[in-house]
Parts: sequence; structure tokens; C-alpha cells
Amino acid sequence: MNSTAFPTGFMWGAATAAHQIEGNNANSDYWFLEQVENTAFKEPSGIACDSYNRWSEDLAIVEELGLNSYRFSVEWARLEPVEGTWDSEAFDHYREILKTLKLKGIKAMVTLSHFTSPIWLFKKGGWEFEGTPELFARYAEKVVQEFGDFMDSICTLNEPNLPILLEYLGIFSPDPKAREAMPMWVSAGKALGVSPQNITPYHITCSPKSDEIRIAAHKLARQAIKRIRTDIAVGWTLANVDAQGDEASVLSFKEKVNIPYLRIASEDDFVGVQTYTRLILGADGRPSLPPEGAERSQTGDEYYPVAIGHTIREAWQYSGVPVVVTENGIATENDELRVRFYTEAVKAVADCLRDGVDVQGYFAWSLMDNYEWIFGYEPKFGIVHVDRKTLNRTIKPSGYLIGEFAETNGAGI
Ligand code: BGC
Repeated sequence: MNSTAFPTGFMWGAATAAHQIEGNNANSDYWFLEQVENTAFKEPSGIACDSYNRWSEDLAIVEELGLNSYRFSVEWARLEPVEGTWDSEAFDHYREILKTLKLKGIKAMVTLSHFTSPIWLFKKGGWEFEGTPELFARYAEKVVQEFGDFMDSICTLNEPNLPILLEYLGIFSPDPKAREAMPMWVSAGKALGVSPQNITPYHITCSPKSDEIRIAAHKLARQAIKRIRTDIAVGWTLANVDAQGDEASVLSFKEKVNIPYLRIASEDDFVGVQTYTRLILGADGRPSLPPEGAERSQTGDEYYPVAIGHTIREAWQYSGVPVVVTENGIATENDELRVRFYTEAVKAVADCLRDGVDVQGYFAWSLMDNYEWIFGYEPKFGIVHVDRKTLNRTIKPSGYLIGEFAETNGAGI
């Protein structure tokens, strides 16, 4: 059967984030937190996948797989290592990557902020500092001035609703005072000479003020980009968990964690949906453990690939703008499980298209095994294996599968 649900020009790609693959991102806040005494990070990012040096090998893999799109992030901490000072070598570096993508005919989707920020911003109060939206918009403007000819789309912020989700799950408190009781924040405060309350990296900062700051940053950045280029699609990417279970709890969860951010996206060109699993909520609003016997990923998520179909529909319903799956995947050493995951997930995407939902792309998370933040290098999300000793890359069967979807434009799914 050759028919396909996927429109011509559908983006088939894989996604990465600078800090997770580049290595030596030493001017960033996460690098600092990984090194600090009592750090909660399992291990430091160090050389990561050395993609800052091996990027052409990585792009050759994207090309070999036949993917027509690649999502990656440029690192603010490299481009503006000191406030107000642009690093021309870092600009040259990303320009080379973007030019290479263009030459290969691969669309570039560029994320401006994938969690990490420059240490200087962090010292000013990071994502609780009132001046951050202007500083972020200035950075967005500079990126577009420099790279405008090579970018197809821009994701301003990655998962601005993740802090709220983590707060909902009880992982972080919205009260900055809570950091005074946590060893990592106490040592970080000492090292920086500030109160732990003022340490505000992107994804732990879930106060209402930081939420307003992220929203303002997105809107100002979008304006700055559009002033220069109207032809570059702009959106933000959201952490879209598929909430299920008790009806009232699901509604209150969605009203807090998903819907407001989808509504903001209604002014954008697209919304990025990033889904890994579902959450089953009880009448008390708390998530229960996955059903007994359910397969679990290395990060504890329930194996539930069809979640993406539900979150795409929700995103379309509340944003009304085209949806791009900017991340979808599973952490596992078992690539057969990943193959099964992607097969079922892509079927769910095809069903959305058949039902008239405007889905414009699908990016696997992630192109390669990488640095999974606090969990270090153990969780394997890659469709390409990276040997931790040699850093050699080997394409996994799941990589070839995504490549096959791209080459046939999902024929027969
Ligand atoms: C993030 C990625 C992360 C992935 C898997 C997403 O929340 O954007 O950086 O690696 O989830 O945990």
C-alpha cells in the first residue's frame, strides 16, 4: 500500500539540544550547577558527545538517514559569553552548521533556549529577573540578523511549562525560599555569593513571576524575529503530558499545565508538542504509578506511545495553529522497544492527520544518546548510539526506521 497520510513537505527529523551534545558548555548555568559541591547531577556533562567538534559527522548521519529536517539549539552562553559581547567565533561555528544543512537540503529548526542560559544571566537573577525578556529578545534579534538566511523555523523557548509541570508533580516548590533547605542550592549560593533564593535556572523556576517572565520573553523574541524576517516560522515547544484518569483532576491539571501555554501559541506560526508518556491522575489530583505490568523506560515513564496522538489533538484544539511534534521518544537500552514505540507513535500521528489535524512535522528525540540532565549519561534516548569511550556513532535500527518513514513519507502507515 503506497498511500500516505502525510502531506508533501512533512518534516521528518531528529532533535538535539546544545548542552546535551556539544560538550564543554562552560559559560552556562547548568555547567556551573553540575560542578558545584553537593550537586544533584549524577555526573557532569563534560565533553558530552563532542558535537561542537563532530557536528559534520552528525549532519552526515542526518543526511544518510534521509531526514529532511533537523532541530537543534544554538547556545546563548556561547554566543554571548559576557553580557553585551558577542563571540564571533561561536557565530561562525553555528553559521557553518546552518550552511551545511542548507547545502544538504535539510530544513533547520533552531531552538534559542533549550534550558541553559549564560552564567551572567543566572547571576542577575535568571528567569526571575525582570530584564530577562529584553535580554532574550536582543539575543533572538542578533541570531536572526546573523543566521536569518539559513533558518526555516525558530523555537524560542523549550518547554516553558515544564517548571509548572514539575511543581505540579511536587518535584520543585514555587517558593524560592525552599531552595535554602537544599544542599545544591546552598553551595551554589555560596559559590556565587548570592542567596540560594536568587538562583534561578530555567527549569526549576516555577514561581508565578518566572512564568510571566518566560511568557514575556517568548512574545518579545517573536516580535524581534518578525521585525527582521516574516518568513521564518516562530513558535515555542511545550512539555505535553497526556493527562488521564479522574475527570476533575485531568481538567484542573490541563488548565494549569497545558491549556494556558497552548492558548499563547495561538498567536504563533506553529506549536511544538513534546510528549513522552501519560500521567494517570487520581481524585486527589496526584499521579498514580503506571498500571501493574506496564513496561517502563529508563527514566521511569510508562511505555505509552499513543500519548502523542492525544497531545497533538489537544494542542490543535486549544492553539488552533499547526502542530509540529518537536520531540517524541523513549529512554531505553532496548532498541527493539524503541522501534515498537516509534511505529506505534507515528501511526497515532497519521491518525491525527486523517482526522484533519494540521500536523507539519515529526522529530524523534533524540538524534543520539546524550546527556540527560540530572540523570547523566545512563538514559539512552538516541536513534544513534554514541560509545561513551570513543564517542563513535552507530546508527540503531530505530534510526533506520525513522529514515524509512522519511524516505517513503510514511507510506502505508
Ligand atoms: C527535553 C529534553 C530531554 C527530554 C527527555 C524534554 O523535556 O526537552 O532536553 O532530554 O525531555 O527527558
